[in-house]
Amino acid sequence: MKHWQIERDANALVWATLDRAGESTNALSAEVLVEFRELLDQLEQSQPKGLIIRSGKTAGFIAGADIQEFTQLDSAEKGRALIARGWDLFNRLAAVPYPTLALVRGHCLGGGLELALACRYLLAVDEPGTKFGLPEVMLGIFPGWGGMLRLPRRIGPAAALDLMLTGKTLDAKRAKRMGLADDCVPPRVMTAAARQLVLSGQPRRKLPLLQRLLNGPLKFIVANGARKQVARKTRPEHYPAPYAIIDLWAKHQGNALAAPEVLDRIINSSTARNLVRVFFLQERLKSFGKESDFKAQRVHVIGAGTMGGDIAAWCVLRGMTVSLQDQDLERIAPALKRAHALFTRRLREPLRVREAFDRLIPDVSGAGVAHADVVIEAIFENVEAKHALFRALEPQLKPGAVLASNTSSLRLEDLRTVLKQPERLVGIHFFNPVALMPLVEVVAAEGADPAMVQAACAFVRQIDKLPLPVKSTPGFLVNAVLAPYMLAAMRAVDSGISPAAVDEAMLAFGMPMGPIELVDTVGLDIALAAGKQLADGATPPQCLLALVEKKQLGKKTGQGFYDWSSGKAQKVGAGGLVGVLPAPKVGAGGTAPADLAASLVKPLIDRTEKLVADGVVADAELADAGVIFGTGFAPFTGGPLKYREAAGR
Ligand code: NAI
Repeated sequence: MKHWQIERDANALVWATLDRAGESTNALSAEVLVEFRELLDQLEQSQPKGLIIRSGKTAGFIAGADIQEFTQLDSAEKGRALIARGWDLFNRLAAVPYPTLALVRGHCLGGGLELALACRYLLAVDEPGTKFGLPEVMLGIFPGWGGMLRLPRRIGPAAALDLMLTGKTLDAKRAKRMGLADDCVPPRVMTAAARQLVLSGQPRRKLPLLQRLLNGPLKFIVANGARKQVARKTRPEHYPAPYAIIDLWAKHQGNALAAPEVLDRIINSSTARNLVRVFFLQERLKSFGKESDFKAQRVHVIGAGTMGGDIAAWCVLRGMTVSLQDQDLERIAPALKRAHALFTRRLREPLRVREAFDRLIPDVSGAGVAHADVVIEAIFENVEAKHALFRALEPQLKPGAVLASNTSSLRLEDLRTVLKQPERLVGIHFFNPVALMPLVEVVAAEGADPAMVQAACAFVRQIDKLPLPVKSTPGFLVNAVLAPYMLAAMRAVDSGISPAAVDEAMLAFGMPMGPIELVDTVGLDIALAAGKQLADGATPPQCLLALVEKKQLGKKTGQGFYDWSSGKAQKVGAGGLVGVLPAPKVGAGGTAPADLAASLVKPLIDRTEKLVADGVVADAELADAGVIFGTGFAPFTGGPLKYREAAGR
């Protein structure tokens, strides 16, 4: 066989090792599954004592189906055939008379988990890379190879739906605790433990009675709850897959082949096609990190404010040692506090939180610069301040260290004039909030050292963000496309449409947050300044000027377009506009013009096109990727340019 290695040991146990030829990770391509069927054919004749399935890759167990094959589904028949291929095969695996075991080390996702679920036993190897999940929903499809049938039986329907509807993953210990894995062992004993477990004859853990009822006659209770939960986050016209998952589980035992209408609709939906495209765009962004062997261990961040503090914490969370510099300790303290909260949330175990916190070093004197592989400047947005800092920094840098600025609006060309090696400075532009925003723009000024730009991209990948190379122009890609969109939204408010109605139109379009709420979140003073820089001299909207004059600057002051006194935007009523502007003609909840969303999104798309034409970003695909991962632009549309192409506008 090309992809599987089969060994029979002295105990008549068969070890099937998947090591997909020519790839660094295992995926269940059509070929891999054909070979697996042949393996089951062979074993039918020879009746082994047991079968253990494991991976030959250091990268992990199995990452899922081969997503490339999804792009070739151009007919309903092909979609059905793809589902039937795994569904039938894994049903057969589940029914073999000999005991089977999946020995899982590293990622076990999608089709990989569906294969493991069809084995009698699942043994998880406890190491950081081991994670279990059914992320199909993120590609706009469903786990159709038995996941919807077997996961609810294994861990109970509410927990299973939670995993299937969100795509989130479990580590080895949690998988054991939830009953997904039968056991969880350290790597050094995994082989012996697998052998022992597969031959143990131990019965499967039975679900508690209540869970069995909820997965049987009382399914409707769980299904109703899940539908409500999904409806709070997504609209079926944008994301039909989560709704289909609930229905397929509740009405068809997780068998999509029993509901061909649902299957065809989901597999051939434009949402699924676009999300698969977005998946590949993401891979393309990741590939920018592979153009250099640069590896950072120590990072030095200067400026412990909103951005610097959170950038430092994020780098620590991703395994780096980080020194954090500011003018005095008092200014660093709030950043340390936020970092501790982040580590506690993400790492949970006190020992790991402690270890992380130990890697974050407050450093008022800047002693860390000399040891750092990457130095990130995130001080006030002021050229003179940055010049003074760079002058002092340059002589202390290690050779080959990346020197980066997080500036949003200053030109790198102006910042680097004080450097002896100006070609060394790059932009590494993070977005706020750092922990949540996946994109980082890597900015190359004219004449920048390409090796430094590539090293910066490699660093961004190392901390698990998506690098987007952009040219040094005002607003780069993301802020440059947001500015005209936010401006259009505020002009709509000027025209008498309420902020809530503007936001609702864009939520209905598929944006994660309305543009007016976004302005409030960013801060109205910042929006005004950004507008001046990015709006080609257009006069600022009246509503913005009026609110800024009243010092109603948005979330940070408790009042902007909305009332934020409770910490959340109160969208009822006219909010901050009372007494500042005349009452809106279209009130909260009122109906805005039908084409409002299209007219608000138009300037964003126009600007994206222009930035591609100007070469700020290399091509249309990367622009779509940047706008999706940098602004949350409705991913199911495939991005602004894809959306325009499909809508023919
Ligand atoms: P901030 O005002 O919250 O923090 C700046 C910090 O730098 C302050 O704690 C200040 O004490 C410190 N600082 C100033 N001069 C210093 C010096 N010479 N040495 C050491 N520390 C010094 O500012 P924020 O918002 O974090 O912005 C920092 C940079 O990041 C700016 O260049 C900004 O354009 C950029 N940026 C800001 C974003 C945001 O949403 N706030 C988003 C992306 C980039």
